[in-house]
Amino acid sequence: MSMPTGPAGPLRFPRDFGWGAATSAYQIEGAAKEDGRGESIWDTFSRVPGRTRNGDSGDVAADHYHRYAEDLDLMRDLGLRSYRFSISWPRIQPDGTGAPNQRGLDFYRRLLDGLHERGIAPMATLFHWDLPQALQDAGGWEFRDTAHRFADYADAVFRALGDRVPAWLTINEPKTVVQNGYLSGHHAPGRQDPDAAYLVAHHLQLAHGLAVRALRAVGGTGRIGPALNLHPCYAADDTPEAAAAAQLYDGYENRLYLDSVLKGSYPQDVLADLGARSRMVRGIHDGDLAVISSPVDLLAVQYYTPIYVTADGRTEHRWPTSVAEWQQIYPDGMYDILTRVTRDYGPIPLTVTENGLPTPDTLATDDTVDDAGRITFLREHLAAAHRAIADGVPLESFHVWSLLDNFEWAEGYDQRWGLVYVDYSTQRRVLKRSAHWYRSVISDGGL
Ligand code: FCB
Repeated sequence: MSMPTGPAGPLRFPRDFGWGAATSAYQIEGAAKEDGRGESIWDTFSRVPGRTRNGDSGDVAADHYHRYAEDLDLMRDLGLRSYRFSISWPRIQPDGTGAPNQRGLDFYRRLLDGLHERGIAPMATLFHWDLPQALQDAGGWEFRDTAHRFADYADAVFRALGDRVPAWLTINEPKTVVQNGYLSGHHAPGRQDPDAAYLVAHHLQLAHGLAVRALRAVGGTGRIGPALNLHPCYAADDTPEAAAAAQLYDGYENRLYLDSVLKGSYPQDVLADLGARSRMVRGIHDGDLAVISSPVDLLAVQYYTPIYVTADGRTEHRWPTSVAEWQQIYPDGMYDILTRVTRDYGPIPLTVTENGLPTPDTLATDDTVDDAGRITFLREHLAAAHRAIADGVPLESFHVWSLLDNFEWAEGYDQRWGLVYVDYSTQRRVLKRSAHWYRSVISDGGL
């Protein structure tokens, strides 16, 4: 990739750079009961009073299931080259096992055909947290068999849609399932059980590896990799204690997922910290790491925030936060995490599959949405990504989270992350100022 750019000149990206945007099924589709879709753990979780803000759920969401054609036109009008979305497991296997539901597959085929017609490259995530409820009832990700159920589901999807998908992502942010689903409990399935949490981590990693093997087994031509949210971890002060605490924190945040896939081993410091009697360590079978480290073709990185770790292992905030109070705005973290991955794991092709922030967007009377904060944020993060590319990082594409305002999990519809505003009372889409800006970035090929 050659980049014609000087230090003071405009930041030009490689000519074939994959300018994109991302979504996920439960967050945008709605149509929760249509065409044979089964229930997912997020349907169940959202119905429990107090679990989501205002009791919001993805029942209707941005109604993308019915409005996908309009959304495809929006993507074309923005000039997107790449669209990262997820396939809903309970649409394909309502109970998580058995013959695929043709009507569910048909929806994604229509979407894929629409992307191809508009010259937009699809990037499909197999699992973005919407586990079929029936599998949760059988033990969920604590149960090793769920990894095999995932591989069967993946196999069905590869066979049905593999001719239309050049790039697959296996599991979105396994770490978030572990931390939010099983440690803090503020995501489905809402558990607070550290011992279960890391067994879940292992089974998610195993599921990833089994899906990679399933793609190879069907002779799939698409590329495949994991989608990891990585957090650069910095010591909060320059004591050796803070450095050691940040190092262990990095093990739990990053190396647990990166090393297992890309080096075939779990980080020793994390395993030692969990202890030989932990359910995770006892749950690792001979041969599992070989499965987990089955060669991948690309690594998807999602970057939102850095973490600062104190000597006693607490975290501190150093930078201004967005509307999402967990998110500190620190663009250099994008550069640090991208260059670190290339340095520590070699020149595996990278894609940024999520980066963005929520802003307090409102629709003005003249039908505009002025989200200047999003433009500044994206400009600075893209500049950091550009710097990483200039320093040798093989970054192929960048997807803004998100294309549309959507159901932000426990935060419901309060947080607006989209380039495109969704008026939920009418489902009308309005391009925010950032969408107009992003369109010109794409047509200029840079900043
Ligand atoms: C990521 C999720 C995505 C969205 C963004 C804000 O952790 O993958 O679905 O919620 O955060």
